[in-house]
Amino acid sequence: MKTEVGTDICSALALLQKGQQVAIPTETVYGLAADANNEDAVLGIFSAKGRPHANPLILHFAQLEQALPYVQAFPEVFKSLAKHFCPGPLTFIVPKSSLVSALITGGQTTVAIRFPKHPMMQQLLNDLGRPLAAPSANLYGQLSPTTAAHVFAQLQGRIPYILDGGACTEGLESTIIGFENDRVLIYRYGSITPEQLAAHLGYTPEAKVHEHGGVLTSGMVKHHYATQTPLYLGLKPQENTSQTLQILLQDHPNVAEPKMILSDSGSLVEAAQNLYATLHLADQKGLQRIFVETFPDEGLGAAMNDRLSRAAAKFQ
Ligand code: TXA
Ligand code: MG
Repeated sequence: MKTEVGTDICSALALLQKGQQVAIPTETVYGLAADANNEDAVLGIFSAKGRPHANPLILHFAQLEQALPYVQAFPEVFKSLAKHFCPGPLTFIVPKSSLVSALITGGQTTVAIRFPKHPMMQQLLNDLGRPLAAPSANLYGQLSPTTAAHVFAQLQGRIPYILDGGACTEGLESTIIGFENDRVLIYRYGSITPEQLAAHLGYTPEAKVHEHGGVLTSGMVKHHYATQTPLYLGLKPQENTSQTLQILLQDHPNVAEPKMILSDSGSLVEAAQNLYATLHLADQKGLQRIFVETFPDEGLGAAMNDRLSRAAAKFQ
């Protein structure tokens, strides 16, 4: 199959209506979308990515009213968070209604829903008038894409169209939250920080981001978001050669080349925007090892440390 890259929303829409899979831009990372109400179309997402069927997908809607028929209940606190943060990079786990296929939820009774902010995705969702199921548009377990070129490199030949909406403005996946025993919980760290949630909730939501019982989120799977080049956390050991690349939050004169810098000013927001793109570039250099400095455990640092530790887990 030939994969086209373009900016034509009408072509993307026509393919989605025919049950095809299309890569779409969101503010977080690119997604691989299909009509969520068409089971064959949804199955095509799993095969294009090589993703296990037990791993559930997020349903994307333009706004909350469109999502309500697909859920059994949407807690008041979620309504208030949605009003404040959405459209935006926050995903809600709620009990599903009978409209949601078990294929979407991996057989679970809950469904993940999100309201992406990217204008192309908003238009697509409004024109389609039904939800799009969309995981990140990478091969299973590999680096998430933040440009159309990243998607093309991994999914070329597997999907007909990549809708190019430019580089993703956030650069990290959405934050996934749930609601248990009257408290909001974080299931996956992401673009909305725990501090932002706490400022709205009046308490810091507890994080439940590791595997427990059945599979909940692929964010919880230990190995994920991985480069092909072996990746390690921390500063590179002295004896290492020019075959070892170091990625730093901010430049430091004591660190020798080769190195890549995520933010000249040391901004975590800028570092998050650049993280996946930098890892994609680093991975193409054909070096033996990549060392990445860990981030302060605050703000977006928590989400970036989470992704990097799962990438590094593959090489331990
Ligand atoms: O920013 C994002 O969320 C991007 C863009 C494309 O929207 N999407 C994304 O999808 O990151 P994906 O499939 O790569 O990650 C979604 C995560 C998975 O780890 C999945 O297991 C989890 O959401 N998830 C989906 N449904 C769930 C459910 N019912 N309960 C718990 N976790 C769920
Ligand atoms: Mg993913």
